[in-house]
Amino acid sequence: MNSEFNALQQECLSCQKCGLCETRTHVVFGVGNPQSEVMLIGEGPGENEDLQGEPFVGRSGQLMDKMLEVVDLSRKKNLYIANMVKCRPPKNRDPLPEEVSCCIGYLNRQIEIIQPKIIVCLGRIAACSLIDPNFKVTKQHGQFILKNGIWMTGVYHPAALLRNPRNKPDALDDFIKLKEKILEVCNHTY
Ligand code: URA
Repeated sequence: MNSEFNALQQECLSCQKCGLCETRTHVVFGVGNPQSEVMLIGEGPGENEDLQGEPFVGRSGQLMDKMLEVVDLSRKKNLYIANMVKCRPPKNRDPLPEEVSCCIGYLNRQIEIIQPKIIVCLGRIAACSLIDPNFKVTKQHGQFILKNGIWMTGVYHPAALLRNPRNKPDALDDFIKLKEKILEVCNHTY
């Protein structure tokens, strides 16, 4: 499993499938424990992530790590974190549909190898791609649906919480619901 995962990472690190390879500093493949039962999936790297080669290391990542800590989840221990696209879209624009379709194969293979029990989509771009194209974060955040044997949920993107702090209590509730789901369906996360 690890050698397959490492081979996938190596392949991804030299990817030139779309134009984002021309402006990236680092490919941001993912971070965390590939044996995790829970995967978090964001949109794409921002400036700090592009510079450091790791997802969610900027301000929004720090907020997310704090909320995760409340429910005993951490990228150092029991989570794997990746993005829809592995290279930073210029000026943090939304990734274009063709960039997502070039990159989705890497994410699909990460999911196949890790075989998570739960996937948490951080924000609209991940939730609309992976759960339902009409997903509305404001209405459906925190709801779980079983899709292809994996429990899927969409939550507020932490960057959206920095812009709209009044949604933080709802976001924290969603992480508490996540903990309950983990206790129900996972074996070794806690
Ligand atoms: N926002 C994302 O969606 N992903 C990151 O890695 C950082 C910020």
